[in-house]
Amino acid sequence: MADEKVTVPAIRSRKGGTRISMVTAYDYPGAVIADRAGIDIILVGDSVANVVHGMETTLEIGLDEMIIHTRAVKRAKPNALVVADMPWLSFHLGTEDAVRNAGRLVREGGAEAVKLEGGRKRIPVIEAILDAEIPVMGHVGLTPQSVHAMGGFKVQGRAVQAAREMIEDARALAEAGCFAIVIEGVPDVLGQLITKEVDVPTIGIGAGPDCDGQVLVFHDVLGLGSGRYPKFVRSYASLADEAVAALSRFKSDVESGGFPSSDESYHVPDEVTAELLKGLGSAG
Ligand code: KIV
Repeated sequence: MADEKVTVPAIRSRKGGTRISMVTAYDYPGAVIADRAGIDIILVGDSVANVVHGMETTLEIGLDEMIIHTRAVKRAKPNALVVADMPWLSFHLGTEDAVRNAGRLVREGGAEAVKLEGGRKRIPVIEAILDAEIPVMGHVGLTPQSVHAMGGFKVQGRAVQAAREMIEDARALAEAGCFAIVIEGVPDVLGQLITKEVDVPTIGIGAGPDCDGQVLVFHDVLGLGSGRYPKFVRSYASLADEAVAALSRFKSDVESGGFPSSDESYHVPDEVTAELLKGLGSAG
């Protein structure tokens, strides 16, 4: 667990300093584990759609589900900063609607900040949310909510003009007041350039080693997924394999009668056992 509660200003002040660790979590046990590891930021990401709900894209998850997951994370009372993702269509229908939805993530979910995808065209919405005193984390590059517009999950910013546009987007987000910016799925050199260009911390995922921090999805970093991970993922454990092995041993013990043992069963004194057998023996 971090020594003290991690706040938005504390993250903001880490630009160029000790690198920031961020991991997604979607429920109480995940948040407890992330916090015990001392992770700086827990992101209740809309990747919950894929890794928890088995959906194809993040377009399928709604605000009510994001609030439920955020609330579960907050029940762990983490010292990590809790940032909730604004799902698709929760910030596209006007600034008033966006502020109301960000407010629900804070009031009902307990989020301490929100994250939303997009560059310059999201500035009015970001300013309105900031005006309601809700800190905003930006997100540029491969933004999964734009999967159809991008024509798939593809590395972004490979061409000079696209890279220039992304740098402009990131600059605008920082100038608007975002306290940090996620950079996803870009060449390492662009991750480095954006990090140099903005005065707020950048947090990379598939954006090379030069960002001010790194984020990974909980199920990927722990090997809790399908086993097929993108190139940028490093799995530090193989928990899915361990879980399968453990449940196979349980099944085999159940079938053989090896579980539960006498130690794993409740007992009453011998005379009560005898009494029960005498009184109920014929009932069976
Ligand atoms: O939802 C998510 O997990 C994210 C991260 C990839 C940054 O947005």
